[in-house]
Amino acid sequence: MMRGFRFRSLILSVAALAVLAGCERPPIESVQSGYRGTGMQQLYNQRLLVTQASLNTAPEPAAAASADGPKAKDVYQNVKVLGELSVGEFARNMVAITQWVAPNEGCTYCHNAANFADDSKYTKVVARRMLQMTQHVNAEWKSHVGATGVTCYTCHRGNPVPNQVWFAPADKRSTGALLGDLEGQNQPAASVAYSSLPYDPLSHYLQDAKPIRVNGNEALAMTGAAANRNSTKQAEFTYGLMMHMSQSLGVNCTYCHNTQSFQSWDVSPPTRATAWYGIRMARDLNNDYMTPLTATFPAHRLGPKGDVAKVACGTCHQGAFKPLYGAEMAKHHRELLGPLPVTVAAAAPSATASATAAGMPASDASATGAAASAAGAPAAATPAAGAGTATDNKMVGTN
Ligand code: HEC
Ligand code: HEC
Ligand code: HEC
Ligand code: HEC
Repeated sequence: MMRGFRFRSLILSVAALAVLAGCERPPIESVQSGYRGTGMQQLYNQRLLVTQASLNTAPEPAAAASADGPKAKDVYQNVKVLGELSVGEFARNMVAITQWVAPNEGCTYCHNAANFADDSKYTKVVARRMLQMTQHVNAEWKSHVGATGVTCYTCHRGNPVPNQVWFAPADKRSTGALLGDLEGQNQPAASVAYSSLPYDPLSHYLQDAKPIRVNGNEALAMTGAAANRNSTKQAEFTYGLMMHMSQSLGVNCTYCHNTQSFQSWDVSPPTRATAWYGIRMARDLNNDYMTPLTATFPAHRLGPKGDVAKVACGTCHQGAFKPLYGAEMAKHHRELLGPLPVTVAAAAPSATASATAAGMPASDASATGAAASAAGAPAAATPAAGAGTATDNKMVGTN
């Protein structure tokens, strides 16, 4: 009897250990980020944070080079983006991008060693466009990247292919069941943090501009142009994206939402507005910079559907609420702050100005709302979310 009991409790404790091994060992710290009693808090595990922090440390900037002396465009033969830099600054940039993108491969990862002006390596052609993309992010997307900005290192971290990129996944229409289109469900994928949500929310939202909605604003409008797209299916895609965003930033839903109403902008913290711009920025980078490079990349760099590797939240954030925990690397490289020539004053347009420059749809009321809260305006200045939702509803085709 006694022995049977001991044996059972042994099994129980082994089972309990097995279950707990999947959990995080305490102490877990909770940090309040909103009014008491509203559930606005983030949970952190100190030990995991230490590992995370060591993975997200920015390298020291190289000593500054003098802006005086002959310009790169007058000395070199084939310089299209960085021509206004002095030769010293140009060399400093080449050393930096080598360290950030191809530290093991060196200059010849992009260059033909016999002729540095030659553009025959695809990596050089891509790198030139990447220089422009980085300038574009820092100059036109201040609404998202603020003064922190980005450098090649933000995404590359010493790797030619950044750690976190995404492709349109190959079609997997069913799990072997006889009937039904699963819409990518029940196929655990990294893109949705291994949940059973549809595995490809990123094509819908970070490439196409499908509305990111769960709450409908019309009752039972099922057909024709009035069809309410805020269906269960669309909700699942939306949650898939939300899982991706939380996972990429290493945060809970309440980093951006107040659980009282996930939809309402009035009660959401300002981080949600920053994220709103982040979604538009990722879309812009994918459509204007990455996709047009498809033919430049060799076939082995393309995904199962022949598309190029693309940018998601995790490409820059890599598990941190701010990439590299907010290290301001970009300011040490004036050539990356915007198209040259750049003066320091011109590199800092207001959040609203950059939103317009980035081509935000003026008709999207939630855009204005987001801009208002991003600029720290009181909640009263934020228009009712419903206005934005109404336009969005009409924009959609199918999922
Ligand atoms: C990640 C790709 C990449 C790496 C690595 C790289 N470069 Fe470059 N290099 C470029 C690009 C892109 C240009 C053209 C820039 C432009 O058009 O403004 C360029 C241009 C040059 C030029 C001008 C050649 C001419 O006459 O037009 C020189 C010189 C040069 N690089 C030297 C170096 C050296 C030295 C290294 C190693 C320390 C290096 N580069 C590493 C991408 C790279
Ligand atoms: C927002 C993220 C991001 C930033 C910032 C960024 N890149 Fe990239 N880069 C990418 C992605 C995504 C790819 C596609 C990965 C691939 O090569 O398949 C890529 C590819 C490349 C490649 C081709 C590598 C290969 O082997 O195929 C080069 C070279 C490159 N980037 C250079 C740069 C340079 C230089 C900078 C800074 C001026 C830079 N990148 C900034 C995201 C970024
Ligand atoms: C990094 C910030 C961020 C995180 C983290 C986040 N969200 Fe969101 N969420 C947003 C933004 C921004 C939107 C609006 C997107 C748009 O309109 O383009 C949104 C929209 C939504 C909506 C749609 C509301 C509507 O209008 O119908 C729901 C529901 C939602 N999120 C739930 C969640 C859940 C659940 C989580 C946690 C798994 C989560 N979110 C995590 C920023 C975030
Ligand atoms: C090109 C790189 C890049 C991409 C892609 C990117 N971010 Fe960011 N994000 C940044 C930088 C840089 C900051 C820091 C801005 C600052 O310091 O003001 C930031 C800040 C944020 C913040 C504010 C954090 C805080 O505590 O203030 C949120 C929220 C956020 N990003 C969400 C997202 C989401 C969601 C996505 C994907 C839809 C995304 N980001 C994609 C670079 C990026």
